[in-house]
Amino acid sequence: MFLDLRDRDGLVQVAVGPGWASPDLVTRAQTVGPETVLLVEGEVVARPPAMRNAELATGDVEVHATSLRVVGPAETPAIPVARGKGEELAAEELRLKYRHLDLRRPELQANLILRHRLLQRARRALSELDFLEIETPNLTKPTPEGARDYLVPSRVHPGEFYALPQSPQIYKQLLMVSGFDRYFQIARCFRDEDLRYDRQPEFSQIDIEASFVGQEDVLGFVETVLVALWDEAGHTIARPFPRLTWREAMERYGTDKPDLRFDFPITDWTAQVQPLGVPFFQGATNGSRVRGIAVRGGGTLSRKDVDQLAETAKTHGAPGLAWVKRQGEQLSGSVGKHFNAAALGQIGVGDGDVALMTVGPDRVTSPALDKVRREVIRRLAPQPKLAHAFCWVVDFPLFEPDPETGKPVFAHHPFTSPHPEDLGKLDSDPFACRALHYDAVYNGNELGSGSIRITDPAIQRKVFAHLGLSPADIDARFGFLLTALAAGAPPHGGFAVGFDRTVMLIVGAASMRDVIAFPKTTAARALFEGAPAPARPEDLAALHIKAVPPHE
Ligand code: AMO
Repeated sequence: MFLDLRDRDGLVQVAVGPGWASPDLVTRAQTVGPETVLLVEGEVVARPPAMRNAELATGDVEVHATSLRVVGPAETPAIPVARGKGEELAAEELRLKYRHLDLRRPELQANLILRHRLLQRARRALSELDFLEIETPNLTKPTPEGARDYLVPSRVHPGEFYALPQSPQIYKQLLMVSGFDRYFQIARCFRDEDLRYDRQPEFSQIDIEASFVGQEDVLGFVETVLVALWDEAGHTIARPFPRLTWREAMERYGTDKPDLRFDFPITDWTAQVQPLGVPFFQGATNGSRVRGIAVRGGGTLSRKDVDQLAETAKTHGAPGLAWVKRQGEQLSGSVGKHFNAAALGQIGVGDGDVALMTVGPDRVTSPALDKVRREVIRRLAPQPKLAHAFCWVVDFPLFEPDPETGKPVFAHHPFTSPHPEDLGKLDSDPFACRALHYDAVYNGNELGSGSIRITDPAIQRKVFAHLGLSPADIDARFGFLLTALAAGAPPHGGFAVGFDRTVMLIVGAASMRDVIAFPKTTAARALFEGAPAPARPEDLAALHIKAVPPHE
């Protein structure tokens, strides 16, 4: 009689046999159901050579049990934990509902164990750089990071609310004003926003801030931490990371999160393509350009692939995709008849390649071509140039136009310093103003972001005013920060690495939920404990709150 005995370190086979166990023990062992908690005593012995299992770390041995005690009987598990070869996982909804069982799976255990090691490594790396770990409040005032706030009613102050922090941004700046010089925190952040596979309503950041630093210093600190984290997971990363300006990233990849594992840059083909008189490109006038991707080896993309890529472009706002395929002297594709080999040569499209193009203003072509590029890479699955492609994106714009009103809204958060060379444009041309803001990007994902901060209260007021806040609003919402900045603020800057996202990418999980012990669904529900849930009327009354059903 064999039992698989599992703990967080792995699995071992327990054998209960007449040679060493009493007949009573053998009988009892037969009644032990799956997922039961057992205490086993016995002797670890080598398995006979024919019985060894090379796929199991402990496959050369087994435990000959001489005693066996059930200390935690188990009901039949609602979802399988130990799966046979090729057996599918239960549906995710069920796994989240029975999270205590799902977390017993060795894959999830390995993820959380690595997560622990990465956390300790981050702490160690930052402590060695003289950063102090300081905790900041979770019951606080709204900290704008672009999402909605989770509000917490105050029982003792009727009608007043705390907000859960979207980040410790303001506190870490206050700590710099107070003279702590270097701060870090593994900070819990709370954001009520649309969720996806890589976003949770509450998540952790490795949050840092330092005084008397410029951009170079901060990028250096963050590289040290990221290199240490990847090292902890067994990967050697070269530094410094390559750097692109935001403009370069948008021009070559259509996104501020370029995946540099692969080529296939986006190129401006307006000058080469315009003279060919292709009707699809006639819109390329004021402010519009023809931009495209020369896909090396893209000749293997089928007609169906290209049609689906065109759909991708359309879904993201472009008028569609024009394409030309070159096979020897033969040109085909939606605009093939307008091209010749010389024109294709000019745009870098050779034999066996395909050119994918679209037209419009950059705000349309950039996101569409970014998605098309990602999709091309997914379909062609070319060999990556390197496995771990980090880069910095720097010189972001300070403001973005609000998609509805066109008015300036902050591109990240309103504490980011304008680029000193662009200070003069703050009033006259705010959209042309660059920020001392930088993002760390890994294989096409934003790992984190940061900036050098505004320390001049007058400039901070001006930025708030650009965002449409009245002087009274500014004082009510951010007066405490302005007071602090006027109290002698050292120049400072910082960064926050999204920790859950980092773990997800390091372990190669498909979803952030696989690296969080108790995650929420994309509908922001905790299925295991059943949150959120209606509050009891007496609790609402104590909080001076009345719940209004949605239809009222
Ligand atoms: P930012 O808002 O860019 O910057 O956040 C930093 C990083 O946190 C991660 N992140 C998330 N992870 C999981 N779920 C979410 N909902 C979520 N939202 C963000 C991302 C992101 O890159 N205070 C600034 C940092 C600074 O300026 O120092 C901030 O919070 O990986």
